[in-house]
Amino acid sequence: NWSMETFIEDQLREIREVVGEQKVLCALSGGVDSSVVAMLIHRAIGDQLTCMFIDHGLLRKGEAESVMETFVGKFDMKVVKIDAQERFMSKLKGVDDPEKKRKIIGNEFIYVFDEESSKFDDFAFLAQGTLYTDIVESGTETAHTIKSHHNVGGLPEDMKFTLIEPLKALFKDEVRKVGEELGLPEAIVHRQPFPGPGLAIRVLGEVTEDKLQIVRDSDYILREEIAKAGLDREIWQYFTALPNMKSVGVMGDARTYSYTVGIRAVTSIDGMTADWARIPWDILEKISVRIVNEVENVNRIVYDVTSKPPATIEWE
Ligand code: XMP
Repeated sequence: NWSMETFIEDQLREIREVVGEQKVLCALSGGVDSSVVAMLIHRAIGDQLTCMFIDHGLLRKGEAESVMETFVGKFDMKVVKIDAQERFMSKLKGVDDPEKKRKIIGNEFIYVFDEESSKFDDFAFLAQGTLYTDIVESGTETAHTIKSHHNVGGLPEDMKFTLIEPLKALFKDEVRKVGEELGLPEAIVHRQPFPGPGLAIRVLGEVTEDKLQIVRDSDYILREEIAKAGLDREIWQYFTALPNMKSVGVMGDARTYSYTVGIRAVTSIDGMTADWARIPWDILEKISVRIVNEVENVNRIVYDVTSKPPATIEWE
């Protein structure tokens, strides 16, 4: 008998009671959970909240700008944006193992957050978008992990802040409802899942700026065409990946030797299992033609037709 109106009212009251006149810091990633937490706390205490948004340079095209536009431009919230692209890129140099990449990014995220948050000494609370499922999953974690899922937002526990986790009794669909009720834009409330390590695990092997650019641009085209076709709500996740390979092509009279881009699109309920999405062929064709024409150094597009299992959703 969960009711959203009473949930929001109760949380607003509780946050105000707990926080009083003190200040709250919130790590904002642009994902659904942290966005809803930020909105809720801002609704409760206004400018006593500061959000920290760490741009690790592995976000999708336009994402950092849209986070700032939404939360600063539209909602007039205090957001400190940390540009940490160079730090992350230099740490990733020469690293091609997917799990090492994840670890490096997870650790670096914590270092940057620690460093930057220690510059403020007047925050008493740290707000986090922990959900019920996060608690349950970490409580039953077994030694057998297929991948280490370093979520951006997973922060160290030995901090001077007291945690506020207003969503910790909620499931994802309830969080989306709260977000809608609080006036969060559709694009955030129904954003497809995006992994903490971001595009670093969509560039297979070593991450370079050139390769990131190919993934960013091709992914942007894919997202545009999927939205245009009205498929964005029925496909669970859709993105491009850059396998570490080149192949031969032909352009005009000349032979080319350029990168292959993989398109991944799946339907799923919870990400645990997934089926490859049956995107209509004419839409795939449009996407393919656009990527090859508009993204430099790409001459071949492949569509991933494996489900999970045996494949995973991501390619790394
Ligand atoms: P896989 O690839 O394991 O992905 O089938 C299942 C879901 O998890 C996301 N994913 C991650 N999320 N950190 C994250 O925060 C990660 O390292 C990570 N790896 C995969 C993936 O996008 C999908 O939604």
